[in-house]
Parts: sequence; C-alpha cells; structure tokens
Amino acid sequence: MQQQQSTWTVIKLGGTSVSSADYWRTIAAELAERAGKGERVLVVQSAISGVTDLLEKLLAAADESTREEILDELRRRHEGLAESLGVDNIQIDQQLDQLRRQALGAVLTGEVTPRLRAAVLASGELMASRISISYLQQQVAADWLDIREHLVARVLDDTDARHYLGAACESLPDRELQAHLEALAPIVLTQGFIASDTDGRTVLLGRGGSDTSAAILAARIEAGELEIWTDVPGMYTANPQQVPAARLLKRLDYDEALEIASTGAKVLHPRCIEPLRAQQIRLRIRYTPDPSQPGTEIGPRTTDPSGRVKAVSARRGIRLVEMSTSGMWQQVGFLADAFAQFRKHGLSIDLVSTSETTVTVSLDPMANSLDPATLARLQRDLSPFCRVRLIEDCAAISLVGRRMRANLHRLAPVLELFDERRVHLVTQAANDLNFTVVVDDADAPRLVRQLHALVVKADADDDTFGPAWQELGREKEAEEERENWWKARREELLVTAIQTPCYVYDRNGITCSARAINSLPVDRAYFAVKANNNPDVLRLLEAEGLGFECVSPGEIRRVLDLFPDIDRSRLLFTPNFAPRTEYEFALDENIPLTLDNIHALREWASLFAGRDILLRIDPGQGDGHHRKVRTAGSHSKFGIPEHELAEAAALAESAGAKIIGLHAHVGSGIRDPQAWQDVALSLARVSEHFPDARILDLGGGFGVPERRNDIPLDMTAVAERLQEFRDAHPKFELWVEPGRYLVATAGALLTRVTQLKGKAGAFYVGVDAGMHTLLRPALYGAHHDIVNLSRLGDTASITANVVGPICETGDILGIDRRLPETREGDVLLIGNAGAYGSVMSSDYNLRGMPREFLL
Ligand code: LLP
Repeated sequence: MQQQQSTWTVIKLGGTSVSSADYWRTIAAELAERAGKGERVLVVQSAISGVTDLLEKLLAAADESTREEILDELRRRHEGLAESLGVDNIQIDQQLDQLRRQALGAVLTGEVTPRLRAAVLASGELMASRISISYLQQQVAADWLDIREHLVARVLDDTDARHYLGAACESLPDRELQAHLEALAPIVLTQGFIASDTDGRTVLLGRGGSDTSAAILAARIEAGELEIWTDVPGMYTANPQQVPAARLLKRLDYDEALEIASTGAKVLHPRCIEPLRAQQIRLRIRYTPDPSQPGTEIGPRTTDPSGRVKAVSARRGIRLVEMSTSGMWQQVGFLADAFAQFRKHGLSIDLVSTSETTVTVSLDPMANSLDPATLARLQRDLSPFCRVRLIEDCAAISLVGRRMRANLHRLAPVLELFDERRVHLVTQAANDLNFTVVVDDADAPRLVRQLHALVVKADADDDTFGPAWQELGREKEAEEERENWWKARREELLVTAIQTPCYVYDRNGITCSARAINSLPVDRAYFAVKANNNPDVLRLLEAEGLGFECVSPGEIRRVLDLFPDIDRSRLLFTPNFAPRTEYEFALDENIPLTLDNIHALREWASLFAGRDILLRIDPGQGDGHHRKVRTAGSHSKFGIPEHELAEAAALAESAGAKIIGLHAHVGSGIRDPQAWQDVALSLARVSEHFPDARILDLGGGFGVPERRNDIPLDMTAVAERLQEFRDAHPKFELWVEPGRYLVATAGALLTRVTQLKGKAGAFYVGVDAGMHTLLRPALYGAHHDIVNLSRLGDTASITANVVGPICETGDILGIDRRLPETREGDVLLIGNAGAYGSVMSSDYNLRGMPREFLL
C-alpha cells in the first residue's frame, strides 16, 4: 500500500519579510505553531532586500576599491541580520571570496556572461537562506534544501540570456521531490528565484522569480495552499498608496486575481497563477507584520458572481502604436503582416483596437524592453504596410470585474469622467474581465481616484470587500511613514550611500504630497522648480499633472528639454530683477509671464503689446520661517507696492497689455492655514484696479514640520478657507505654486562619517557633506534632523556637532545632536532635505557636487 502523503503548505517570503529580525521572530513563532499541530511547511525565501541590487552593482564595478566597498556592505548586511537574530558562524567569508573572484573574472574578461550573472545573483538567496535556517533551527525542527538539486529548468532551444536569466520550470506533480521532502523535518527552508539546468548550472527564473518559484513548487508537491507573505495586508480595489479609500479584496478567483495582477497591482506576479490553477491550489496573501489578518484568498471559484467592478488599476508608461492605411478595408492579411513585425522585434502586444482604416495597439513596458532603437526598427519595418504613429506617455486604466459587457449600462457615469480628457483607445477584454481606457499618463492618478469613488461600492459586511485601507488606521500610519519613509527603505539607502554625499528622494512621498496639493480647491498648481530641479523629480511631478513655475531661462529650458511637447500654459515665468532679454525669451516661447516691477512696463512697453500678463503684487506683509525668506513687505525687494498700482494699470493699458491675473507670494515655510485666504483677499481687493484680472495666483510657501514637535500645516483647513473664498468670489480662478511642500520631507541627504574629535568640551562628528552640500543650516540656521542610519535603533549616547569639510567656521550641519556611539564610515541621514537642498549646493572648495537619486 502506498504511504500516506502529508499535506504541505508553501510559504513564500519576499525581500522585506526576510530582512528584519522582528519579522523573523513572527515567522518562526508561526512555523513552530504549525509544526506543533503536525503541519508541514516548505518556506521559499528571497534574498535580503537590496542584496540583488548590490550584486548587480558588484558585477558592474570596474575598480577594485568599489568592489571591496560593495563586498563590505554585503558582509555588513548579512552579519547585521545574523547578529540581531543571535546566529553566528554563517561562513560569509567563503561566499564573499567566491563573489570577489567572480567579479574579478568579469573585469578581466571584460564581459559579464549570462551564466556568470546567474551564478552571482543566485548567491543572494543562498547567503540569506543560510542565516535563516541557522535561526529557525534554534526554534523548530527545520531542514535546508538547495533547490537547485530539485528544480531543473525546461530545456528550450533559446539564447544564453533566456537560458540563464529567464528559465522556465515544469509544474507537474513531482513524486521524487515529494518523497524527498517527506523524509525531512516538518519545516523545510529553500530559495526562490533560482534553479539549475540539466547540466547542473545555476539559472534564474526571471521576472517575478520568487512568486513563480513558490507557485511551481506548490504545484510540484501538490500543496494544499500557497501563502505569499508581504508588507501589505492583501490585494486592494486600487493601489492604497494612491487611493486611501481602496478596500481590501477578501476573495477572488484565479481569473480575477490574474486580471488585477496583470493590469497593475504589484502584490503578486501574474506568472504565479497558472501553476496553481492547474492543481486548483488556493493562494493566500498574508501580512508579515501581522499574519493573523485574513488577507486575500484566491481560489477556483468566487462566491460573488454579481459582476461588479472589483478593482480600478492603472499601468503607467504605456506606448501606443497607431497603424493606418486606406488600403485595409476588406483587405486580407493586413493584421497578420503587421503583427509579424511585432513578433520579429520580440514585442508583445497588449491591447488592440481596430477600425476600417486604423489599428491601434499598446505596448506594456512591464512585458517589453521598449528601447528607442527597437521602436525605430519596428516603425521602419511597419512602414511598407501602413502609416505609423507612436503615441508616448499613456496610461491604461482598467476596471476589472466579471461580466463587464453585461454591466456596461452601469458605467454611464464613468464615461462622463472622460469628458475633456484625451482618450486614445478603449477596449473591453475578450475574456469579459476588464474594460480599459488609455489616456494621457498625466491624467491617470486623478482619474483612478475618481473612477474608484464611482464604481467601487460596498456594504459594510460585504463578502468580497474588506475594510478600507484608511479605516485600518493605515492612512495615519502612512502619513507618518511618509515623513519617516527612510526607516522602511534603510537597506536600500545604505546601498545607495556607497557614493556619498548624495541626495535621495522617495517617489511615494512626492506622489502623496502632489496628491494633497491636487486635492486643494484650486484651478492650477505649479511646482516651483527652484525648490528641486532634478529631472526625475520633475518627471514625477509632471506625471501627477502639475505645471512648473520657473524663475530663470535655465529653469524654463530644463522643463522644455524634459517635456518638449508640454503645453506652454503649464509653465509660468516669474523673474525678478532679470534683464530684458529674459522677458523676450519667455514671450518668444509663449510662456505665461508675471511682472514683478513696473520698470518693465515703463521701459520695455513694446514687448508687452497685445500680451496677457500677470502682475506680482506686494500685499504689504511678509511671512515665513526666516527673515531671509519673507518676500513681501517694506524690507523685501519683491512685488509692486500698493502706491504704484494705479500707475501699473495705466502703464499696462498704454503698452497694450492685458492684466489677466494678480500674483503674490508672501514667503516660504508658512504653517498657518489662514495665510492663503488672506493673500486671496488682498489680491481680490487690489483687483479693483485691474478689471480684466480673473486669475489670482496665491504663490507657494506651504510649510512642512522641521522639528519633531512642530505642528504640520493642516491642508484640510487650507482647503476649507480657499473654498470659502471661492464661494464668496466665484469670478476668480485660483492658482498656487508650491515648492517645498511637494519635495522637502521626501528627500534626505546621506553622508558618511569621516573623523571624530573632542575639543574644549565639544564633540565633533565630521562628515563628507558640508555647507557646500546643504546650505540651509549655515544660511538660515535651519534645523534638519540627523540620524545615524548605520546604527538605527541604537540608544543615543553622545551629543555632537555635525560638521563638514569646508574651511569655514559656519560649516555646521547640526549643533548638539544626540547620536548613538558613532564611528568612521557610518552613514548619517539628514532629513527634510528634498527642497532647497541639492539646488543650493555648490562646488565651494572644489569639493564636488552631491549626486541625486529618486528611489
Ligand atoms: N513662488 C515664488 C514666487 C517664490 O518666490 C517661491 C519661493 C515659491 C513660489 C515657492 O515657495 P515654497 O512653496 O517652496 O515655500 N531657500 C529657501 C526658500 C526660498 C524660497 C524662495 N521662493 C529655503 O531653503 O527655505
């Protein structure tokens, strides 16, 4: 008689889950409990987060000192985790020696072969799983398995790159593996992402590697369930970072989950569904910090056949290829000819829409590497068949749910949202699971929020929809996380800090602040480019729909270089004491202009004939965090004072210019929510002089907390007061131009400790950043929090002045700061540095400029 087989559960642990000792304690407790109940678990784990990136960097590093720094960092990361888990003897040296030899080999041969890359990247999973097993074995009976001995890739007649880096494995039941596991301890730990080929060489499973490994292994051992443990509590009706009202999806069937994963949700890789479906294995998403939460369950059947919309998702960065030909009507084989060209260039098509003369298809960047050369070749090869037009920067927004066709009538209000938006393509999926609209990328974030509010409706005790992200108290937490984002991304930052000093920016933080600004009751929001002109940051803000306020031709050129086709009305030029040529330049480029002084109207009247312009007014009262940033009132050089208003109006009239709007910016770093209503009221009063003025630009100045106990600016109150103003003065359009608010807290400066010194009762921590990197402390006495990122969590035991390498006594970044025991080589993080940080840096003492990274 055949021996009774155990039922296994496969648990997949992603990078964040395996990088923290706290999470490991939760995981071990859960595993011990299950083993105690006689359950058997195969744990499939990723590398420590950031390690795969470090290994990639190691392969790319040409000089020995960089390679040694990276190897040191790899050692610190692994030893750090081992130490906090109380594990010793992890034999990291052997593995690092091997990596050193492999990296040197790549340098000597001048080539990183796919085979070498696979071997090097695989060591991340191998090193991490050795630490985890040593820890687990202290808690529960567990065995370690080198998965390469059991997961052998399918033989494909393929390129080396695909063979080693994008391998595929069979997912049919594997009796041999089942028998092998049966003989091991109740808990078995192994690696995701890696496998071997038939010759025993290491290969990688490519995109979504660990999810796919875990699903394939679950199918091969005929597991009862696969659990994916991750840092969100499940799948949501929309990306909860963007839509706080998004609700947890308690239950989905395979098709729905696949559809949501492939239309944009990141929690789970779409490739992991098929192996599970074949064996009807349930999948559950669990929240690593609290695995007792129910998460999302994905299985063969849904309990909700109603056919309502379950999710609104967005895929950004989509490109469309529009192919038109008059000869296509009733012509045989056009599609076959055209699609053959896509195949030839290895491009996978996502959406398709056709008419008599035009076929439009979309290319998803997730599935394709859309380099300009490939697209140019595609265009060339298509041109004998049709006229080709590429449409860039689109987003595909999908409503996902069962029986979309039968429910089209419910989408009527949804369609109204597309009024006044450019719609490039509309499709409803052949499997009847999604309805997708391709729009301009910049419209995506707002549309997703609006669509979600319209279509995701749920009763409180619904079987499908669980609690909203914000109800879970996550929104407040997310708010705090936004300010202290660097805690969650510490590992990644330590990798980035290999070249200090550098500024790092948190993509999510900037997006969230943009969302807060976009939800104010104003007609336009411009980002004040002076606060941060990093191209990646500007791209991100452009995608959120912001315009750009520029103070120099240089800033204008930066914006136009990045977005050559941008509508010029999304720019605003606000120069101050600038030469006449700069005004000529902006007028030539058709960029809306704000005049700050009547000198221009009096002396250069001919420039403004027939032009619509704004005037910057001095409302008489400045505000802000420091006297040097108060930009109104008798001590400031800005704006047209009250006593010159009548003259300004007369000069504009005789020049033939129309004053269509009034502007005021009273200062920077304001945290009183009344400030902008006050500005609006003063401008409305002044508008009596300017009958054509319909725009009031209230400037920027939105402040952020600097010190721990500072009260943040209450944006809800700002919004209420602006709304009050609008209700009383409906004839005005309102504009704002924030700089700091959008980027300050999302940025940090990373710097490395150079020297330590005690003198005359003071203790100095020297770092490689200084007043040339971050001028604000020296110029305004501004406070920036400083933490020792390398020793986060250690108790503060010293009080130090943090100083830079510049030959000036004022070269101080922080005075009397409490820090843990700090050593040479530690990385310090200086917070709240995303605004007026890098932009104000200089090459003073020829110490070089800081680098910048958007993460
Ligand atoms: N609009 C105008 C006309 C401005 O002059 C400014 C900033 C802004 C908008 C954007 O202000 P924000 O929202 O960023 O506060 N370097 C100083 C800040 C100087 C601000 C100059 N003007 C600092 O580091 O605090």
